[in-house]
Amino acid sequence: SNKGEETLRAPICCVMGHVDTGKTKLLDCIRGTNVQEGEAGGITQQIGATYFPVENIRERTKELKADAKLNVPGLLVIDTPGHESFTNLRSHGSGLCDIAILVVNIMHGLEPQTIESLNLLRMRNTVFIVALNKIDRLYGWKAQPNKPVRKSLNQQSKDVQNEFDRRLIEVITQFKEQGLNTELYYKNKNMRETFSIVPTSAISGEGIPDLLLLLVQWSQKTMVEKLTFRNECTVLEVKVTKGHGTTIDVVLVNGMLHEGDQIDPIVTTIRALLTPHPMKELRVKGTYLHHKEIKAAQGIKITGKGLEHAIAGTGLYVVRRDDDLEEVKECAMQDMKSVTSWIDKSGEGVYVQASCLECIFNKKDPIILGVDVLEGILKIGTPICVPQKDFADIGRIASIRFNEKAVDHAKKGQKVALKIVGTNPEEQQRMYGRHFDNDDQLVSHIT
Ligand code: GTP
Ligand code: NA
Ligand code: MG
Repeated sequence: SNKGEETLRAPICCVMGHVDTGKTKLLDCIRGTNVQEGEAGGITQQIGATYFPVENIRERTKELKADAKLNVPGLLVIDTPGHESFTNLRSHGSGLCDIAILVVNIMHGLEPQTIESLNLLRMRNTVFIVALNKIDRLYGWKAQPNKPVRKSLNQQSKDVQNEFDRRLIEVITQFKEQGLNTELYYKNKNMRETFSIVPTSAISGEGIPDLLLLLVQWSQKTMVEKLTFRNECTVLEVKVTKGHGTTIDVVLVNGMLHEGDQIDPIVTTIRALLTPHPMKELRVKGTYLHHKEIKAAQGIKITGKGLEHAIAGTGLYVVRRDDDLEEVKECAMQDMKSVTSWIDKSGEGVYVQASCLECIFNKKDPIILGVDVLEGILKIGTPICVPQKDFADIGRIASIRFNEKAVDHAKKGQKVALKIVGTNPEEQQRMYGRHFDNDDQLVSHIT
């Protein structure tokens, strides 16, 4: 019914796959941005979120199907890293989404993190669409910018078409070896049993219309129940944002947030709800739009008092007037416990909480963490590790850096920003995190 359609939320789509298959570039192509080239070493190191309004999707798909029924308000797309050391972030991303795009490089076929991603998606019963990317790399390919892929393939020489078919069959065979049926999307007669493949190029934009339309149509057809409103929100990152104090970046998976809402477990009131402009990444600094209220799904920056106590990876709970406050608090505490249970407070060392785990891929400064010191004193030589499946030992503290202002603040017992460099460069490969940005003020408390 019409009423049902109006209340559909935006589906959340996670982009997964092996490193350098073109996940970020595909999103750049849809957004008309260049996030990928700004990444350290061209490697994605954090989860990103971008909202694509339905008007943009309509524009991109009109040549393919002008009268397509698009009932969702848009798509929230989550970019994930493909590098092998970021399993945690892939798992977090895949846990958030309703539907996924599994990106495969047509020139390489299935690779280790393709298979890892595939298994994460299968474990959660998440439907996905395969983007068979980099078709423009086929020898002799003549690019037809932004064309639906069938039109584009028809324009290619017989040799190119044969080479495409050969590589496609190889990929289908590799999926078969993983126990999955796949087929070119426009030949797929049974989307419930066979996964669809959409050939794409993130450089020429070919196949992007097909990918967007299939994503929206498939979500609408299969997920009406999932896409109807409930309230759910997950914290991605806690950080100081210039001009806004400590903020939290969250993904509102379902439901609605309002300015002034009371949120738990931090027990604070939402001062402002900020989002990047549509088609922009939440990760990228820029100006923000203010909202009185926001409907799911969205990537949001929240400002308010006391947010430095939020923990990345936990849920955020909104206390409504008719809610039992104690019950909401109980839910929030359960979440917090499951995260803090990772932390071993026995033995020697300090107990710290990172705003998010950060590292840079840089041989000189292997590990840099922004931390809140919760107990103990940080010294050169203090052993440090981060909670993962096991504890990644990042060695001992090699240096602690802060600026002069921080010294004054620390003397007065105020919070300061610290950067910590570890001594164990090999371990950076096993850590997850993101590029450390010098403008990011990290809040710490020295006890
Ligand atoms: P990670 O996030 O690090 O896992 O990589 P990614 O999957 O996001 O890949 P990324 O977007 O960083 O692209 C990797 C490289 O492949 C870049 O140099 C891109 O310019 C290039 N690339 C991506 N897509 C295409 C494509 O469709 N065609 C061609 N020719 N190059 C592409
Ligand atoms: Na990359
Ligand atoms: Mg990327």
